[in-house]
Amino acid sequence: MDKLSVRDADVAGKRVFVRVDFNVPLADGKVTDDSRIRAAIPTINLLLAAGARVVLASHLGRPDGKVTDSLRLRPVGQRLTELLRRNVPVTGDALGVGTEDAVKRLRPGELILLENLRFHAAEEKNDPEFAAKLASYADVYVNDAFGTAHRAHASTVGIAKLLPAYAGLLMERELEMLSNLLEAPARPFAAILGGAKVSDKIKVIDHLLAKVDMLILGGGMANTFLLAQGKAIGKSLAEPDRVEEARRILATAEERGVRIVLPVDVIVAKEVTRGTEYKTLPAEKIPASWHIVDLGKASQDLIVEALAEARTVFWNGPLGVFEIPSFAHGTKAVARMLADAADHGATVVVGGGDSVAAITQQGLADRMTHISTGGGASLEFLEGRELPGVTVLLDRPAAGAATSPTTSETPA
Ligand code: 3PG
Repeated sequence: MDKLSVRDADVAGKRVFVRVDFNVPLADGKVTDDSRIRAAIPTINLLLAAGARVVLASHLGRPDGKVTDSLRLRPVGQRLTELLRRNVPVTGDALGVGTEDAVKRLRPGELILLENLRFHAAEEKNDPEFAAKLASYADVYVNDAFGTAHRAHASTVGIAKLLPAYAGLLMERELEMLSNLLEAPARPFAAILGGAKVSDKIKVIDHLLAKVDMLILGGGMANTFLLAQGKAIGKSLAEPDRVEEARRILATAEERGVRIVLPVDVIVAKEVTRGTEYKTLPAEKIPASWHIVDLGKASQDLIVEALAEARTVFWNGPLGVFEIPSFAHGTKAVARMLADAADHGATVVVGGGDSVAAITQQGLADRMTHISTGGGASLEFLEGRELPGVTVLLDRPAAGAATSPTTSETPA
């Protein structure tokens, strides 16, 4: 990696501000998916073992600058306490005298979690004063929040310009796995993209078309491609204003010899609700009053066949209406196919909420090569865009150059 890592930092006895992405789902005051918390533990443990005084900071949800009790980080602190088997105090606010004192009192090998950064509107505005306040807590900055690296906020960019700024271990691994997809994928390389809207994925499709051998499309976004092929899709979700773009993508794929796999049969439903009537139909001419809600069996078989030779697979987005269990079968089947592909030596990288949920719900997570903790961030990375929270970290000096990093504005 061309960025300095926390392993390069001298942290013994120092105060280290660690930006983590603990934006996790909660229900009834409990964390329902702790993957992002677990993913940050290697960096936290490394720092504690090295005798650092660790100040953890994260956002949770989108409180838009207002203190929102349901978005307090207490449940996250509790889960982290259980996972680390040591008490993780959570401050009442990210700022204030009490928090300053608590940070000052930290001894080597101790940690604290600041309250939700987004209770301050200054965080998302990348306000310099707020960034300076956060920076005053520490001597060193570590960004392990890959999931938030596409946001230029005070805790991801502002602060990193004021302290020597390093990548955490999770950040390092995410960048390595995703860079590998773009730079040196074992071939054939297949991307599977789903989700509701093609408009959200146009940029990533454009960028990936130059990299992949095969593009497998499903979910609501595939309907716009079916329209582009002149097929009737009934009342299915689609973006008619994107049909031209879908046509352009199909033509580019053909020119470049990229195989496009679209559903050949689909589950259609009377309504997009639980308990409704549904059946399988060929994806040719869907009657006017039906909605496409999932992949059919023939489409699943086609994906199995397409993936048989793949040595690298990236997957983002559900292939049906995943939140309704009867229409989650296609998405779950793809999760199983990818676990098999990974067992047979393919590199399988997955990003995005529902795709990851389909994997974790079926206990397949350990079989994948890498599950990204960043949905939006991983897509922006694969679009070829710079992630502001990464750009600002200290560059690794060229071999032979002197190393005494200070801040990213005055790199060694
Ligand atoms: C995410 O969940 O994708 C990240 O935590 C970023 O959250 P945001 O989209 O609210 O900035």
